Amino acid sequence: MNKLLRMENIERFYETPAGVVKALDGVDIEIQEGERVILLGPSGSGKTTLLNCLSALDSPTGGSYTFQGEEVPRNHSEKMTSFRRDNIGYVFQFFNLLQDLTVLENIQLIQELAGKKNPERAKELLALVGLESEINRFPGEISGGQQQRVAIARSIAKKPTLLLGDELTGNLDTETSQKVMLALVEACATENITAVFVTHDESLVEYATRVIRIDSGKIVSDEFTNL
Ligand SMILES: Nc1ncnc2c1ncn2[C@@H]1O[C@H](COP(=O)(O)OP(=O)(O)OP(=O)(O)O)[C@@H](O)[C@H]1O
Ligand SMILES: [Mg+2]
Repeated sequence: MNKLLRMENIERFYETPAGVVKALDGVDIEIQEGERVILLGPSGSGKTTLLNCLSALDSPTGGSYTFQGEEVPRNHSEKMTSFRRDNIGYVFQFFNLLQDLTVLENIQLIQELAGKKNPERAKELLALVGLESEINRFPGEISGGQQQRVAIARSIAKKPTLLLGDELTGNLDTETSQKVMLALVEACATENITAVFVTHDESLVEYATRVIRIDSGKIVSDEFTNL
């Protein structure tokens, strides 16, 4: 396996009136292409901060981060945006669908932006997450869990090198989240996408190849599972 990324001694400190908050306090992590990592940890442990640093939405305050052998830009919004556009798919907790576009158009737009237009694939991805009958509705006309599944389909449609998800299945029932996780695992394998998913749900561990636990901004365990 080829190395995709490496973080060494990454720190993300916040200066607050009450003192320094160490959201990430010396994180070392190396991820190989094709891994599916589940990131677990208590509320406030640094999970979202780590995803934001991995995606170059946020800049670490210390340490080194290389992606495909190159230093990831920080504190430079244009370079960070172009890094994200070229490499990252991110499913946020609040899904950011475009309200004036239908479900299908939301998917097609991201394919176009990534230069990967493919109408059949867009429909196929929506079927994979169980939304084949909703493709012509608008986000305001479907449920929160359905919107989340559109956001997941959209993140795969882009074929990112690295796919990040924050509480991906947080709004889904058990059966739907299993279906969606299976679709994601299959898409990651066929499209050669590396993934890091944050969750509180220990049952999702079965879909991962690696489980990392974080507490108080430090990695406390890192285990390979279904390799
Ligand atoms: N802008 C900020 N200013 C100061 N402290 C912050 C800021 N953002 C996050 N923090 C702190 O950094 C720590 C890590 O936050 P983070 O959002 O990464 O946690 P999390 O693991 O994602 O938690 P949750 O499971 O609740 O989403 C927390 O102590 C949080 O209060
Ligand atoms: Mg969080």
